[in-house]
Amino acid sequence: MSKSFRNQARYGVLGAALVASVLVPGTTASAVVSPDISVTNAKAHLDQLQTIATNNGGNRYTGRTGYRASADWVKSKLDAAGYTTTLQSFSTSAGTSYNVIAEWPQGDANHVVMTGSHLDSVSSGPGINDNGSGSAGVLETALAYAASGQIPRNRLRFGFWGAEELGLVGSKYYVNNLPAAERDKIELYLNFDMLASPNPGYFVYDDNPAGNGARDDLVSYFTSKSVQTEYIDVQGRSDHAAFRSLGIPTAGTFSGAEGIKTSAQATKWGGTANAAFDACYHRSCDNINNLNLTSLDRQIDAIGHMIWNYAQKDYGTTIPPTGPNLLQNPGFEAGAVNWTGTAGVITNSTSKPAHAGTYKAWLGGKGVTATANLGQSVTIPASATAASLALWITIDTAETTTSTVYDTVKVQIVDGTTTTTLATYSNLNKSTAYSLKTLNVLAYKGKTVTVRFLENEDSSLQTSFVIDDVAVTAA
Ligand code: PHE
Ligand code: ZN
Ligand code: ZN
Ligand code: CA
Repeated sequence: MSKSFRNQARYGVLGAALVASVLVPGTTASAVVSPDISVTNAKAHLDQLQTIATNNGGNRYTGRTGYRASADWVKSKLDAAGYTTTLQSFSTSAGTSYNVIAEWPQGDANHVVMTGSHLDSVSSGPGINDNGSGSAGVLETALAYAASGQIPRNRLRFGFWGAEELGLVGSKYYVNNLPAAERDKIELYLNFDMLASPNPGYFVYDDNPAGNGARDDLVSYFTSKSVQTEYIDVQGRSDHAAFRSLGIPTAGTFSGAEGIKTSAQATKWGGTANAAFDACYHRSCDNINNLNLTSLDRQIDAIGHMIWNYAQKDYGTTIPPTGPNLLQNPGFEAGAVNWTGTAGVITNSTSKPAHAGTYKAWLGGKGVTATANLGQSVTIPASATAASLALWITIDTAETTTSTVYDTVKVQIVDGTTTTTLATYSNLNKSTAYSLKTLNVLAYKGKTVTVRFLENEDSSLQTSFVIDDVAVTAA
């Protein structure tokens, strides 16, 4: 027998004190949710944008290598998280530019909630507050949503615009090239441009004269965090204007640019009166030191609040699945808590990357005859008209056959004494990247059942089935 035994390091999980960085919406049912978007991660994205500028002549300006590198980097992060992405090119007076568009593959495509920020800088500097801050915040929120295991009711789309500094060229190009039917599907556009001004204000805007609920929601969110806001008429100075011109509701936040903070504003927000909100606005000193991280932290949590809530907003959508995640500890970050089955399966071993966080369920990988399982009980509401089980899985194997199933993991529902296999993945489904699987569990409405993963390996040549971010949702 040529199949070789391979040892694998396993780490105990009981007593692990990790806390997921993002609040799991399922814990608060349909209540308003406010995830904590990681400012540490957002700052790391800003470090990356600074590095890109530094390596490309000090800027990320349209038509220069630093812009293309920024776009490629953002796109790669979103691709890795499971987004469907597009690099949309267009021409400008300063050369070719690009929009990066990313869409989450679930949710009703007839109801789109879109969030955007411009990714380009001016030519004089790296553009870290303007608008690395908005780009990093929107990117981190998109990544956190992908990792949350939630399934949105609506379709979430993100836009990273090129050539805003040349006059909203990228966002105008995007909307002008959307077929009318596609424009009509966009329910809301949220814009984030300058979120971490060093002498920050907390401005909210929308340019729809009649106003819309989104701006009010931003105000209420900040108020709930004891941050006072001011309405500002930004006179179409950022990318929301392109959407607004089509009659799409818009809203956004802004921490201030060349404007001067009054003493009344310094009283309510702190900072320096009679000084610019961002004295480095459009200058070479808008670099990694030109940031107020408290402002960034508050602003990105506001983005998270809006996206989590508008993802679930009822725009008359009928398609499933919707609703919060009914599973507890769905990303395994609390270790074995809420799961039962074979000891040691839930692990933070560094030899297998998690889909999000550090923990995941690693079934198999022994290379000897073995079985393992993992399960959690869940009640699917009797009123459900749709229910799904979603999971992320990556599979690697030492098997070389392209036709014979040796090692398997079954995704099962245990309903009393009846076990039903919804899907089987095997050594033939090898995939180095995580892929999302969605299975229908509506048949179990009104029942308390166990979601179970049952893995079996034959006597040699390991196959590892690594599962993370499991979600059961019902509507
Ligand atoms: N869009 C402006 C720029 O990039 C900054 C700005 C953002 C101004 C929001 C007003 C409101 O230079
Ligand atoms: Zn600018
Ligand atoms: Zn800007
Ligand atoms: Ca995880």
